[in-house]
Amino acid sequence: MRNGTLRELLVEQLRDMYNMENQLVKALPKMAEAANSGDLSSAFEEHLEQTRGHVQRLEQAFDELGVATKGKKCLGMEGLIDEGKEILEEDLAPDTLDAGIIGAAQKVEHYEIAAYGTARTHAQLLGLDSVAQLLEETLEEEKQTDQKLTELAQEINPQAELGSEEAETSTAGRRRSVAGNGETDDDEMSSRRTRTRVSSRS
Ligand SMILES: [Fe+2]
Repeated sequence: MRNGTLRELLVEQLRDMYNMENQLVKALPKMAEAANSGDLSSAFEEHLEQTRGHVQRLEQAFDELGVATKGKKCLGMEGLIDEGKEILEEDLAPDTLDAGIIGAAQKVEHYEIAAYGTARTHAQLLGLDSVAQLLEETLEEEKQTDQKLTELAQEINPQAELGSEEAETSTAGRRRSVAGNGETDDDEMSSRRTRTRVSSRS
């Protein structure tokens, strides 16, 4: 019979999370650089500092548990970071790019919140109070970062939408002037717009 314990599971989870945080220490400066909004960029820089602290808290947790400090490749975070990179490679208008970056960053935060919430609860169950406390502190910071990103999205998403509307209006205006006779075929225009929308999504 297999007999791995909850404590062993916790140590494995923490090793995954240690790698997860270290991947983010590398990715966050790139996100800060890619962001067009100064506020978004500073939010990433601020979170980079916090993330360095998250790495240290995990090192402290390994110490408390009396196990070696080492990471295990976190495939989930690798996938989320790769998806974020795909957004950066798309040819998006500045505000739209920021809206995409925020979405990618919130996926990262939610993944971290799930990881820390689970590990914290396991540590509590095992009576490892000081480890649970360390995990709880980081969990709170991840939640605050997620909240901050939601607030930034509330400012940036409408700007992205406005920019898209303006781009559409000027495209429609050009088409009208190309037609030259003052007559427009609204059905044709709207079906073109629909096609544009559909193809830009693919
Ligand atoms: Fe973190």
